[in-house]
Amino acid sequence: MIENIKILSNSISVKFKNNHEENFPNIWLRDHAKDEENWDKRSYQRKTFTASLDIGIQIKEAKIKEDGSHLEILWSDMKNVVEYSSEYLFKNILSINNKNNNLQLWKKEDIQQDIYFKFKEIQDEEGFRLFLKKLYNLGFCVITDCETNLKTVEVLANKIGYVRQSIFGGLWEFESNEDMADSAYTQEELRPHTDSTYSNDAPGLQLLLCCDYKAKGGESIMVDGFKIAQVIKNNNKDLFDLMSKIEVPGKYIGDGVILEAKRPIFKLDNNELIQVSFNNYDRTEFRIDEALTVKFYKAIKKFDDLVNSKEFQWRHILKPGELLIFNNWRILHGRGSFIGKRKMAGCYINMEDFRSRCKISGLY
Ligand SMILES: [Fe+2]
Repeated sequence: MIENIKILSNSISVKFKNNHEENFPNIWLRDHAKDEENWDKRSYQRKTFTASLDIGIQIKEAKIKEDGSHLEILWSDMKNVVEYSSEYLFKNILSINNKNNNLQLWKKEDIQQDIYFKFKEIQDEEGFRLFLKKLYNLGFCVITDCETNLKTVEVLANKIGYVRQSIFGGLWEFESNEDMADSAYTQEELRPHTDSTYSNDAPGLQLLLCCDYKAKGGESIMVDGFKIAQVIKNNNKDLFDLMSKIEVPGKYIGDGVILEAKRPIFKLDNNELIQVSFNNYDRTEFRIDEALTVKFYKAIKKFDDLVNSKEFQWRHILKPGELLIFNNWRILHGRGSFIGKRKMAGCYINMEDFRSRCKISGLY
């Protein structure tokens, strides 16, 4: 709620009832007028021809309305007043930093049984919302009692967004079929990583359904990359700063394509962490000066030590009918070594579609 206002030369100072004071430049407010003349309510699109506005536009009159719930402004170039809600103004204060507000950063010991949801439980609206909330807060969940086929993956993907097409196709199946009795063949441990560091828009979610398991080992590994970032920031600020600035390239060659992209291990937006990217397998060559090079390798060592420590790794052998779903912008995934047969199905979902579903469900 708005407590009081002060008109300044090219801005208006708004004091909120929680004592926060903020200056809103006139031209910004005028550009964000959401009255009928300037805003299309049906399409949520701006009607204002912004470039034609006078950058030095002035306020003729400003009033606090409805006990501080609105600010009403009469602009020098308009006949009607424009209303701005206190909520809208507060949502746009410069220091607001709430993208990660509801996230629960975790270590292994923090993960409880409530990450498991039965497939049937999440079919109705309320069950689905509870599942989505957990997935949003923790970054991963396991759905149990699934039918072990591609259709299950597709049905779930379509409840969130849609199946992402990539060079690997949309829905995929993967089978590692070595005869346990005849072979000592071992699938080596896959160390925690994020997928598609070579893509400018890495997949947001990954779904992995276990369809068959006649093997030993092969635990799925989950690590909260945001928690690792927090630990490094608190204990090694200089390494954190480096990891949020140095753009690390990833590269994929195969299937008739050469894909390359680069971004920092910790990608920040307005000082807030929005994405963790780390894939030592796919990292390609890049040069930085010598001192930074040494520091970069120290950072990688620190990061790899943490993501491979028991304290931060949740491990679980997926049984047939269990589907692991995780946020690839936050959670590093890996897989323990195994011998035997393991058949998996899965797909990716775009981050923007996951976010959209979360917004529609009122999660942020
Ligand atoms: Fe992967």
